[in-house]
Amino acid sequence: MKENECILEMRNITKTFPGVKALDKVNFEVKKGEVHALVGENGAGKSTLMKVLSGIHSPSEGEIIYQGKKVEFAGPLDAKAKGVVLIHQELSLVDEMTVAENIFLGDLPRNKFGFIDWKGLNKRSKELLERLECEFEPTELVGRLSIARQQMVEIARGLTQDVNIVVFDEPTASLTQEEEKVLFENINRLREQGTAIVYISHRLNEIFQISDRITVLRDGEMTGLLNTAETNECELTSLMIGRDLEDHLDFEKRGRDEIGKEVLKVEGLSKDGLFNDISFSIHEGEVLGLSGLVGAGRSELAETIFGVRKADSGKIFLEGDEIKVGDANKSVDLGIGFVPENRKEQGLILGRSVLDNLSLAKIRNLNRYGFIKGREEKLIYQDYQDKLDIKTPSSKQQVKNLSGGNQQKVIMAKWLCINPKLLILDEPTVGIDVGTKAEIHKLIRKLAAAGIAVLVISSEMPEVMGVSDRILTMYHGEITGEFYAEEATEEKLIKGITGIEAGACKVG
Ligand SMILES: Nc1ncnc2c1ncn2[C@@H]1O[C@H](COP(=O)(O)OP(=O)(O)OP(=O)(O)O)[C@@H](O)[C@H]1O
Ligand SMILES: [Mg+2]
Repeated sequence: MKENECILEMRNITKTFPGVKALDKVNFEVKKGEVHALVGENGAGKSTLMKVLSGIHSPSEGEIIYQGKKVEFAGPLDAKAKGVVLIHQELSLVDEMTVAENIFLGDLPRNKFGFIDWKGLNKRSKELLERLECEFEPTELVGRLSIARQQMVEIARGLTQDVNIVVFDEPTASLTQEEEKVLFENINRLREQGTAIVYISHRLNEIFQISDRITVLRDGEMTGLLNTAETNECELTSLMIGRDLEDHLDFEKRGRDEIGKEVLKVEGLSKDGLFNDISFSIHEGEVLGLSGLVGAGRSELAETIFGVRKADSGKIFLEGDEIKVGDANKSVDLGIGFVPENRKEQGLILGRSVLDNLSLAKIRNLNRYGFIKGREEKLIYQDYQDKLDIKTPSSKQQVKNLSGGNQQKVIMAKWLCINPKLLILDEPTVGIDVGTKAEIHKLIRKLAAAGIAVLVISSEMPEVMGVSDRILTMYHGEITGEFYAEEATEEKLIKGITGIEAGACKVG
């Protein structure tokens, strides 16, 4: 096959689920040796299109031409055997198995007696991990790894054999900058070898950095096919959301003297190896940003405040009363809401309906007064479906059938239902499309205006600076700086989160 030739053509693909037309006559093509980005809002149909490609879903209409021939893969293993690999948005690893076992799951190497070749398994896994510059062992249990590392295992699993097309569905959502760099190097290497890459992401800067062409989906329809070099963020966003995006990150902030009464006070909180001697407070109606790189101890700190982890020492006070550390159920009763970073695992029951999931946090309150839940639940549902624009055909839809970004919105809504005094949001907009991101930022400010104290953890600097009244920087488990909105600059924050003076690397 010649360079520049289409290796894949998806023609007129339509896919309907009960109540949803997820794809409507979509055309999509990929050439050898190109990185083709697939973009669109939450629920636009990106993951569905790729699931149709790999045979997880069969299309309601349309055809797939691969290497010049019409194909229909029986499923992901069949697709992989024929050189098409899909690396999922949702991690699909088995926690109780080792890294190596997960990488070769369903395809474990066997020796000539038919037994599993453990030595070969670990050796091949190690080679793969080294190629991806991963610093962990094939023998480690996957459940013990950070989410970022699990993501790398997922990627390694896709690359166990020669491939023609690799699809990355939001691979960087939880990767550190370092890991992202390595991933991009690997993508470039694959591209040079002539592999075709499909790259799905909500981060437009990544799209511009890595892709050659871009296909845009909106509401299941294809709205654009562009050469990356010939377009810009503006054009792309308006193709994605059908309107121009207003500049949203310019909120009115509270000054030093407009702060309400103290809601949360943390005093000398320490946990060996994770964070050390953390003290700060958050006030009524205040948005406190916690800025730090992935791995700085931010999420662990949040989990400790919420009570899913225990600290070694230190105290936590809510409205002046010390709260017993390490009891998450109690925290909910006290009025602390927590949207964790690892939302899939910690936040949702995938097999239950949107409505059930929304009322999970609230259920205790509803039951306490002996109410039948139905009516109140429905009200909650309508309220938040509107506010967060959750895209689902009905409240009865199982959460696992929602798009990735819409699942996140359900978790967010769930915690808002308890009407918290303190709301902790860990990376609230990871995996959320640009349009909704602006809505979430607005919502955060609205919550604060209603008197809620909000702690926003984020590695996106414009986001922290945009929504926070005050910002703490965190580096290696310690608080390294505190800035009010009016004095915060990117330079100061970068110094706080990296420990490096801006410009310090310049020679001379
Ligand atoms: N198995 C399913 N059953 C019913 N509806 C589904 C199913 N899978 C996807 N959908 C619906 O199809 C639409 C497209 O979803 P899809 O997951 O492809 O979106 P996406 O573009 O990947 O979004 P995101 O950026 O949030 O991941 C959504 O409305 C979703 O709810
Ligand atoms: Mg998706």
